[in-house]
Amino acid sequence: MQFKKIFYKEVDSTNNEIERLARGNAPEGTVLISEVQKKGKGQGKNYWISNTGGLYLSILLRPDKKLPLLSLMTGVVVVETLKNFVPRGFYIKWPNDIIHNSQKIAGILVESRYRGNVADNVIVGCGININQTVFSEVTEYRATSLKLITGNDFNIEEILNLFLEIFLKSYNKYLDLGENIVLESFKPYLYLHNRIVKVKLYNDKVIEGKLTGISEDGGLMILKSDGVCETIISGRIQAQ
Ligand code: BTN
Repeated sequence: MQFKKIFYKEVDSTNNEIERLARGNAPEGTVLISEVQKKGKGQGKNYWISNTGGLYLSILLRPDKKLPLLSLMTGVVVVETLKNFVPRGFYIKWPNDIIHNSQKIAGILVESRYRGNVADNVIVGCGININQTVFSEVTEYRATSLKLITGNDFNIEEILNLFLEIFLKSYNKYLDLGENIVLESFKPYLYLHNRIVKVKLYNDKVIEGKLTGISEDGGLMILKSDGVCETIISGRIQAQ
């Protein structure tokens, strides 16, 4: 796969726009980057604030098998990219909030369309806070950026190119070697590992227990006080 970058000044959401391009038969490896998003999408019903100064991109993939850990993999790619600029302090809050010193610096939104059992278009959306210093909306976690952490301005295109280089290596490894390589790479970054957490499930039920790790299918493993271990596939770790 080769990346083909397309730059926009402004768009509603890079995920939405690349899906429109995908319907018009854009090739696998198309990468859409926009300086601003007017309706950046976050997980669930959240917005993703997308003013100038951040990196907002979507990658179009057409894998010939299901890749359940693609979003965890992308989280590791973001951390490995950012570590080149700030060496320490990054964690991934399951499933894919990138955290630096308890503040959120990046988020990932993978959206897949299936034809039968095979993914037709897989869109990997990623937003990284780079040079922004003001975040207008109140969010669960305070937002941070590379500039807020270091005081310096960064070259967004340099970070984009590094991200794509690391993404391609990780993606090819995932295709060749399977899930284990992703799980191993994710382990050192698991936020709140061995801590007591509360996880809110899709039906609003809350489970409390010790976060013991990530299961083979990418679920969150929680050891409850009654000794039962639960694996959560979809849910949200509540703020500490
Ligand atoms: C989250 O943490 O809630 C996920 C945020 C994902 C934001 C990125 S920015 C580029 C891409 N286009 C979107 O509309 N959303 C993703």
